[in-house]
Amino acid sequence: MKGRFMKEKERKIYIFDTTLRDGEQSPGASLTPDEKLKIAKQLERLNVDVIEAGFPASSPGEMRAIAMIAEAVRGPEICALSRMLAYDIDACRRALEKARRKRLHVFLATSQIHRQYKLKKDKGEILKMVSENIRAARKDFSKIEFSPEDASRTEPQFLAQVVQAAVAAGATSINIPDTVGYAVPQEFGDLIRFLIKKCPALGREVILSVHCHNDLGLAVANSLAAVLAGANQVECTVNGIGERAGNASLEEIAMAIDTRRDFVGCYTDIRLKEITKASRMVSHLTGMVVQPNKAIVGRNAFSHASGIHQDGVLKKRQTYEIIDPKRIGLSGNQLLLGKLSGRHAFNARVRKLGFRLTASEMAAAFQRFKQLADKKKYIFDEDIETLLQEGAGQVPEVWKLEHLSTTTETRKAPHAHLVLSFNGKKKDASSTGDGPIDACYKALEKIIDQSAKVTHFGIQSVTGGKDAQGEVVVKLSVQNREVTGRGTSTDIIEASVKAYLHAINKICAHLVSQEQGPTPV
Ligand code: KIV
Ligand code: ZN
Repeated sequence: MKGRFMKEKERKIYIFDTTLRDGEQSPGASLTPDEKLKIAKQLERLNVDVIEAGFPASSPGEMRAIAMIAEAVRGPEICALSRMLAYDIDACRRALEKARRKRLHVFLATSQIHRQYKLKKDKGEILKMVSENIRAARKDFSKIEFSPEDASRTEPQFLAQVVQAAVAAGATSINIPDTVGYAVPQEFGDLIRFLIKKCPALGREVILSVHCHNDLGLAVANSLAAVLAGANQVECTVNGIGERAGNASLEEIAMAIDTRRDFVGCYTDIRLKEITKASRMVSHLTGMVVQPNKAIVGRNAFSHASGIHQDGVLKKRQTYEIIDPKRIGLSGNQLLLGKLSGRHAFNARVRKLGFRLTASEMAAAFQRFKQLADKKKYIFDEDIETLLQEGAGQVPEVWKLEHLSTTTETRKAPHAHLVLSFNGKKKDASSTGDGPIDACYKALEKIIDQSAKVTHFGIQSVTGGKDAQGEVVVKLSVQNREVTGRGTSTDIIEASVKAYLHAINKICAHLVSQEQGPTPV
């Protein structure tokens, strides 16, 4: 796609996934070696360039998990994290022994606050450690990534010195972390430009990477600003999990670069169709729920609720959608039917469900849909089916439920009060019973002045969710005739009363045809 801002030559942006290292640092997200391997295989299907599999020196289990991944995952480069310690670097060597392609990732904090309080080292000592350790690691690794931890809060001149020393010592990638998520996009982009100026190999012979945390919610924006400034690798995690507020989210980075390729002038090799599967797997295995409104992978990311938006999307999807959900492995978008939905969305769903209604049937069904939507947050397909089936073979509502209340108290018989209308005229009665439904039925029989034998009573949930609709089916035996009634409601007592009245109204309808006028039973 050639857009307005398309650059002459597009740059590839390497995706370095750290779900299994920084992501696993999310509180409560620890994974077993088998779970890590499962995720690594999905990351391979996602076609990330590098998988940071973990921190081998942290535990024997972690070392085993990384070794399993190094042996089984052959596509992406496998990377392991290390402090600037010979012991850690050797642990990485052992963990990555069987990897087809491997990378060592060493880090050392460089900011003044970390130097003074955490490391108790001066600038000279930091520079010496960086040079010596990277040089030493070269005997075991041909690819070495170096991260000056807390880079965004490091004095820029000193940061440039450290980066130059790391490159001179043999680092093949330089990663600039915004460790505490402190940077803002313009500032972070400027820092990247400054470093490229001081060390022109960055973004060319030496990979220039960024690693942004989300403490101010700017991790993706900062990463993109860095890409626009010349960085050619982004470190990120599936669903944006990671230490504290997390890392830049892989799916947001990949989709932003893809969707705005016209402006960014870059691409990634991510297989976009695997995004949804990866997101669900990581959420399931880490137990970290994805927020519903999360970009790209949140449950609501492709759901349209307002009638105006639904109408627009039905006319042309792109009116309110910048990404085709099928591109990320979803089956399509969702028009959530609820009280904000209009006729267009309702009619389209009715047709999709296979119902063919006349204009007046559709109008009546839409009215019932709106009544239901006032009671129920979302109307699912099953609700619509129920609603249409109730509407088919319409029975005139001679007896209508106007109001119902029940009270149940420990050690007291349940009590019901019912108001019905008969051709618009209200009548009411109260009763107690063996249960609230029995109390309702007794009150109902008082009003209609007729008793019926309930020969069958069935109840089932016909929709999903906590506010599911219950359907009640009753069979009544009245004056030697059997008649079935159905009622649905989010309240099963109301559904039970509606079912009884439906049966009674059927009998009334039958009498109408014989006697030319509605008659109570
Ligand atoms: O956030 C950070 O600084 C890190 C480094 C180890 C790259 O995770
Ligand atoms: Zn980090």
